[in-house]
Amino acid sequence: VGDRDRRRVRPYLGKDVLGDAEVTGMLAGREHPEAALRRDRPQPRIDLAAHVPYRSPRPHVPVRLDTNESPSPPPDRLRAELAALAGTHDWHRYGDLDATALRARLADLHGRTPAGVWVAAGTFELLAQLFQAVGGAGRTLGVLEPAWGGYRQVAAAAGTTVIDGDPAGADVVVVCSPNNPTGHATPADMVARLCERHPGRLVIVDEAYAEFSSQPSAAGLLALDYLEEVAATVALVVRERQRVYDALARLPGVRVRPSDANFLCFATPEPSGEVRRGLLERGVAIRDVSGLAHLPDHLRVTIGVPADNRAFLAALGEVLS
Ligand SMILES: Cc1ncc(COP(=O)(O)O)c(C=O)c1O
Repeated sequence: VGDRDRRRVRPYLGKDVLGDAEVTGMLAGREHPEAALRRDRPQPRIDLAAHVPYRSPRPHVPVRLDTNESPSPPPDRLRAELAALAGTHDWHRYGDLDATALRARLADLHGRTPAGVWVAAGTFELLAQLFQAVGGAGRTLGVLEPAWGGYRQVAAAAGTTVIDGDPAGADVVVVCSPNNPTGHATPADMVARLCERHPGRLVIVDEAYAEFSSQPSAAGLLALDYLEEVAATVALVVRERQRVYDALARLPGVRVRPSDANFLCFATPEPSGEVRRGLLERGVAIRDVSGLAHLPDHLRVTIGVPADNRAFLAALGEVLS
């Protein structure tokens, strides 16, 4: 069990769930102390038992800038149309299992054919399907780190072995661009080179935050009938991102990274855990990402509405002074 394993699971641990010693034991292949009491219950696969479920803490504070959510709700018109649709839909019938109309419109938007578009209930389901089909037992995943922890979790559930370090030779490679949590967008020519280095392998480029990027992207705005409204929200976030970036860059000792996403990643002179706690005491939630590879004492703040961003900057100023 290396430091790397401990760092890998630490961000996902609620202190009330598992202690360090238990995690170390589980990573080393020993069973959780409670497992012995539960032998009369169905047991999960042994390779899954040591894994800690993906969870993100949900603190109850007024200013929530910890989960990369949009600062504004979807347009009123969209909500009204959805509500009307719910009243007329044939709920007792199976829907179109191939999502034909949706895939055709998405294909149109991205200059593809419908056969080249797959839809699923969010990224977790999409990744699970990809790892089941192309990963699984005996196959490997390479992740360009640091990156969102979801890839490792879903790969593990599918039985895919995650390799640390150089992804060369992996059956599946994941690039998160713009990256969560650093905000860095991988240039298109680098992605092309990665594909060339992995002929016949699956290269997944997760562009969950592409709307906020200045880089050309394969993805686009997905709210189809509401592209203008979505573009207005994106413009607000991009403007506020610059304002928050400039303010962070002016704080003594703070190092902030350029971002192509709806969040900023920054390092503080104080330990990140203490900074996060100090902000929580002042009603502001942001994410401590120091448990990820290469990001000691880094935090991630989601760009919110202007008032929330001001509250964050004021609270951070107090915590660091
Ligand atoms: C890079 C990245 N991809 C995917 C997801 C999950 O997105 P979805 O809303 O599709 O489940 C997240 C959520 O944090 C993310 O950061």
